[in-house]
Amino acid sequence: MGRIRRLPDDLANQIAAGEVVERPSSIVKELVENALDANATRVTVDVDNGGTTLVRVSDDGDGMPPEDALLALERHATSKIARIDDLLALGTFGFRGEALPSIASVSRLLLRTRARGSAEGISVFVDGGGAARTEPAGGAVGTTIEVRDLFYNVPARRKFLKATGTESAHVGDVVLGAALARPDVTFVLTRDGRVVREYLRTGSRAERAAGAVSSEGLVSCRASRGDIVIEAMLAPPERARAGATGLSILVNGRPVKDRFLARAVAQAYGSVLEGGRYPVGVVWLDVPPGVVDVNVHPQKAEVRFADGRAVFDAITRELHAGLARAFGLPALGANPYAGHLRNALSAGALATSGGAPFAPGAEREPPSRSEAHPGLFGAASLFATPGAPAPDLALFATEGLYGSLRFVGQIKGTYLVCEGTDGLYVLDQHAAAERVTFDRLRLAHAERGVGMQRLLVPAIVELSASEVVLLEEHAEEIGRLGVEVRAISDASVAVHGVPDLLLRQDPSRIVRDLAAELSRTAGRPFKGAVDLVLATMACHGSVRAGDALGREEAEALLRALDRVDFAGHCPHGRPLIMRLAFSELERRVGR
Ligand SMILES: Nc1ncnc2c1ncn2[C@@H]1O[C@H](COP(=O)(O)OP(=O)(O)OP(=O)(O)O)[C@@H](O)[C@H]1O
Ligand SMILES: [Mg+2]
Repeated sequence: MGRIRRLPDDLANQIAAGEVVERPSSIVKELVENALDANATRVTVDVDNGGTTLVRVSDDGDGMPPEDALLALERHATSKIARIDDLLALGTFGFRGEALPSIASVSRLLLRTRARGSAEGISVFVDGGGAARTEPAGGAVGTTIEVRDLFYNVPARRKFLKATGTESAHVGDVVLGAALARPDVTFVLTRDGRVVREYLRTGSRAERAAGAVSSEGLVSCRASRGDIVIEAMLAPPERARAGATGLSILVNGRPVKDRFLARAVAQAYGSVLEGGRYPVGVVWLDVPPGVVDVNVHPQKAEVRFADGRAVFDAITRELHAGLARAFGLPALGANPYAGHLRNALSAGALATSGGAPFAPGAEREPPSRSEAHPGLFGAASLFATPGAPAPDLALFATEGLYGSLRFVGQIKGTYLVCEGTDGLYVLDQHAAAERVTFDRLRLAHAERGVGMQRLLVPAIVELSASEVVLLEEHAEEIGRLGVEVRAISDASVAVHGVPDLLLRQDPSRIVRDLAAELSRTAGRPFKGAVDLVLATMACHGSVRAGDALGREEAEALLRALDRVDFAGHCPHGRPLIMRLAFSELERRVGR
């Protein structure tokens, strides 16, 4: 007796829903895309309670005749493709014919539609994927779909829904993506009955971007290479954030979340952006449909290119040309983080420095900025720097090592050269200073919370809606980090206080980094984000490469280093010190 059974349709749909419908914003995405595919010129999205109790999308598109309205809710029913080849020349967002049945299987769905030219419309109601009930309906031409009580019949999924604010923020991001995809369409988003976004139709991508992303300093670039066309609206490098939350990328008009493409855009800024930081703005990439596969991700959030390398290169090089002109950027390849040590001392000296390879990135050609300068992660030496040699632990075991060094001088505005009893020492001043700052911040945080300096005039910072929500949700813990922020709108906060250890730092940068770090670790307990947040703060709040450092400051830094708990916290981090033993020096000069 065989044991294999065919799954009933409603179960198959629920399983498909597991991939397509992750949260209310996934529903918004599917319904909005359907509206656009149906030639809508105006799309209204209403959500209640972050979309958990209601998502309603109404459009003035083509509508459906009654028989289609019923078929639309069946699995694998689509009007958008007929043959596999159609995927190669896709002009629509949808093609799988599974969004509506998936959604209907995990909610209560009401579809009301009237086709152009029909006297009457129809409404179809499906409860948790059950049998459809229909009745005639009036109303304007177009379609309205209401989805209530998401996951009411799948408690395991319902549990994963986040606070209303978080879900609302995701919905906001999806509507933004659609708005950037289709500037010629008007989008209205209401939340619990209040209009929170309105994107009126415009004539161009640039105008839509200027209205949708904060327009502060955005420059527009257009470039092409072969049949790859790149259009971008990008902000100056100083507005960049840790993490790609402020960067929207669209491929052939489809919003995607693609790290690879985001990195290509960041690299177009060259060395002015440290690894892990991404610009704010929008990039539209248009390629022949045949060279991109959009059918690689359940929510179509990722795409795959026939020749990814060529696309990456085209973005980086072509955008760089425009950005360099607009922002006065240095040429690509001029990397301030790479090769410093190599230049400072001869490569030979480094390679044989007492047998201990401590020099960061000195013995390999650093191919990418993020590797050469690990940015946040290297900053506090909490994490391994891929490919970086491990520091010599024996060095750190010598108690009072740093204080015992005699400061000789600063070179390249970046390295402190010191004499020790056994050899020559070179310290990376930025790595050293940030390690000290990090340690102080961490200690203060663990004891009674980082001290706060209140700002006389609050700094206003523009953020994404989801970041504002995150900051609000964690206001209390953020207070313990010495930062006080209050939301003043959907997409901005006022900074009222900053950590007293970081007074020299720009408050908006502190808050931008904080928000980015929280988004990156969103969903995990705040505790886990604390070290990362403190590390970023320390990184940006410390003496940098290129800062002139006097004798007193240098000596204070050395003394402070002795109090830092090295052995405990940074066995693998970015090494901040190297030693050239006198014995080795003598051998090399043939003494
Ligand atoms: N707002 C709408 N206006 C007109 N027709 C619609 C609308 N929404 C859905 N349809 C019709 O219902 C069909 C099924 O929609 P559904 O979203 O389930 O699949 P799809 O869009 O074809 O593919 P995918 O699963 O990739 O989204 C569509 O092909 C379309 O013909
Ligand atoms: Mg669809």
